[in-house]
Amino acid sequence: MVGVLLLLLLLPFFLYIAAPKIRKMLSSGVCTSTVQLPGKVAVVTGANTGIGKETAKELAQRGARVYLACRDIQKGELVAREIQTMTGNQQVLVRELDLADTKSIRAFAKDFLAEEKHLHILINNAGVMMCPYSKTADGFEMHMGVNHLGHFLLTHLLLEKLKESAPSRVVNVSSLAHHLGRIHFHNLQGEKFYNAGLAYCHSKLANILFTQELARRLKGSGVTTYSVHPGTVNSELVRHSPFMKWMWWLFSFFIKTPKQGAQTSLYCAITEGLEILNGHHFRASKEPAPALSQGLKANV
Ligand SMILES: NC(=O)c1ccc[n+]([C@@H]2O[C@H](COP(=O)([O-])OP(=O)(O)OC[C@H]3O[C@@H](n4cnc5c(N)ncnc54)[C@H](OP(=O)(O)O)[C@@H]3O)[C@@H](O)[C@H]2O)c1
Repeated sequence: MVGVLLLLLLLPFFLYIAAPKIRKMLSSGVCTSTVQLPGKVAVVTGANTGIGKETAKELAQRGARVYLACRDIQKGELVAREIQTMTGNQQVLVRELDLADTKSIRAFAKDFLAEEKHLHILINNAGVMMCPYSKTADGFEMHMGVNHLGHFLLTHLLLEKLKESAPSRVVNVSSLAHHLGRIHFHNLQGEKFYNAGLAYCHSKLANILFTQELARRLKGSGVTTYSVHPGTVNSELVRHSPFMKWMWWLFSFFIKTPKQGAQTSLYCAITEGLEILNGHHFRASKEPAPALSQGLKANV
C-alpha cells in the first residue's frame, strides 16, 4: 500500500523527467530539405500565430517573399516585424484576409494578383476549431466556411497564377480528426444538428477531399497539391473550448511546439521530387508512411 502511494506521489516527478523523451517520440517528423527559395513567392493563411507563423518564418528564412494572409492586420504586422528581424528577410508582407467573408477573400485575391507576378507556394493553413454555432458572412457554418470553403475559393481565385508560376504547390492543412468527419449534404450548414467537435472533423475531411479532387483536375498543369496532419500542436486552436485548453495545458510538455507542427507543411511545400505524390495525405507519423520516409526523418 505504501509502495503504491509512493509510486503515485512520484509519478508526476517521473513524468516531468521523462517529458523531453516522450515529447521527442511524439513529435517525430522534421523537414530535412535544404532547398532555398530566393525568387519564390509564398502565401500562408493564418500566419499570425501557431503553425502558420512558424511555417511563414521558415519560408522567409529560406529566402522566399512571404505573404502573411491574416484577418487581424495588427497581429500580422507584429509577426512580420519579428520574422524580418529573425531572418533578415525584409520580404515578409501582411495582407488582410478574412476567410469567413467571401468579399474579403475576393479583395485579397484581386490585390494579390495585381501586385504579384508569381505564386509558387500556397499554404491553406488558417483554421478554427470547436466554435459555438455561428455562420460566416455568407451564411456558411463557421468550420466548413473558414476551414474548407474559404480556402476553396481562395485557391480557385489564385489558380491561374499558380499555373503560370509552375512548378507550384498548394498545401492544405487538415487533421487526423478527418477520420471522424462525414459530409452530410442534407445538413452542411449544421442547421438540423450541430456538434462543435464534429463540425471541425467534417471540415477537415473536406480539406482532404478537396486536395484529392484538385490534384486530379490539375494533373499535367505543373501545380501539385497535398494535405497534411501537422500532429498535436500547442497552439491557440483550442481557444473556444475551456476543456481542450485545460487538456492542452496539462499535456503541453508532451505535445508539439508550433515549430515542430510546421514541419509537415514545409515538407510538402518545398521537398524536391514530391510531384509523384500529388494529392496524397501526409502525416508526421512516428512510423513514417512510405511517402514520408525520404525527407521527414523521425525525431525533431
Ligand atoms: N494545433 C493542432 O493540434 C492541430 C492539429 C491538427 C490540425 N491543425 C490545423 O492546423 C492549422 C493551424 O492551426 P493552429 O494549431 O496553428 O491554430 P491557431 O494557433 O489557432 O492558428 C489559427 C490561425 O487561423 C487564423 N484564422 C482563424 N479564423 C480565420 C479567418 N476567418 N480568416 C483568416 N484567418 C483565420 C487565426 O487568426 P487569429 O489569430 O486572428 O484568430 C490564426 O492565425 C489549422 O488548420 C488546424 O485545423 C492543428
